[in-house]
Amino acid sequence: MNINSNYLNLKDSYLFSSIAKKVAEYKNENPEKELIRLGIGDVTFPLVPTVISAMQNAVSQMGNSETFHGYGEEQGYAFLRQAICGYYAKKSVSLRDTEIFISDGAKSDLGNILDIFDVNNTVLIPNPVYPVYVDTNVMAGRKIIYMDGNPENSFLPLPDYSVKADIIYLCSPNNPTGAVYTKEQLGLWIEYAIKNEAVILFDSAYEVFITDKNLPTSIYQIEGAKKCAIEFCSLSKTAGFTGTRCGYTVVPSELMQNNLSLNKLWLRRQTTKFNGVPYIIQRGAEAVFTDEGYKQIKENIDYYLENAKIIAYTLTSLGIWFTGGQNSPYIWLKCPNGLSSWDYFDELLTKYNIVGTPGAGFGSNGEGFFRLTAFGNRDNVNKAMKRLLQQQ
Ligand code: MLT
Repeated sequence: MNINSNYLNLKDSYLFSSIAKKVAEYKNENPEKELIRLGIGDVTFPLVPTVISAMQNAVSQMGNSETFHGYGEEQGYAFLRQAICGYYAKKSVSLRDTEIFISDGAKSDLGNILDIFDVNNTVLIPNPVYPVYVDTNVMAGRKIIYMDGNPENSFLPLPDYSVKADIIYLCSPNNPTGAVYTKEQLGLWIEYAIKNEAVILFDSAYEVFITDKNLPTSIYQIEGAKKCAIEFCSLSKTAGFTGTRCGYTVVPSELMQNNLSLNKLWLRRQTTKFNGVPYIIQRGAEAVFTDEGYKQIKENIDYYLENAKIIAYTLTSLGIWFTGGQNSPYIWLKCPNGLSSWDYFDELLTKYNIVGTPGAGFGSNGEGFFRLTAFGNRDNVNKAMKRLLQQQ
């Protein structure tokens, strides 16, 4: 028996597990300290009332033999896929419900989608970015080429035709930098992908934070995207489903490679390896896309965006360089006094009792940078910012 030796090429543990361990150790040694967590992007608000009542109703249905649901469609119930088509229609994107796949979140699908691609494909990944893209490809042993994100290109790398890639990851609004691609920039990526017969894996998990009407909230708002892009989205940050788990992936039927439909391959993969998201959760997710549900979740999003403004305002007063915080729940800052990401992590933890995420955890270009999230409750965000202002 041999293990998959590609795992030996991974870091010891996943970024957010390493941070959680470090923070737990510190808390253990300093139980009296009041830590403020602006690290992992976990939400503060509970599920909104419309979602809760839809789920309660679904729970009752499950207790009645007339309305009970056993195995559902692996791809997700039609009622939820149709609700998502309605959501896309409002963005002027026309999708068929067969192009939508319900999942337990974007993270799982971003990793699982690799099942349908050859292991010899070359992968192009921004640096810095959400570590799941790198780790899942390292596990499979694929060749990775990195594209540099830096202050000079506003952390939004653009295509370089001297690089030949088969699979391209884009995340917009970006985790961790908060940078958002414009329609024109995404257009350049689509052109590159079509010319290279490559596929774009577009992570739009944070699209609901985009308030600037000129910025795209789906890659399909740009001409040609259905021929080359798969879009991953999640209700985790949109509707507080981090603990409830529900997301969706769009695989357009126009997306073909070597005369094969990627939609069909993904359906084949899902029907074999996945038994679907629970009925109760899907009913809750459906409620997010009703007028009332959407109004309620938007109130929470606006609150988080206001937190981001408070953090941004404080960093500006402290003269700390940052990006993000607008159209995104993440604020990406330059570590003060030339500190490394992990040294600043330690300083924030031990001196200010604030938990953040070291930029180096998102790739080598994240060294010297740091990520704060806007998902905390207002009192905690204010308290954390006061600590930074007082102790400078
Ligand atoms: C993050 O903090 O980057 C995210 O919460 C992680 C995730 O969505 O898996």
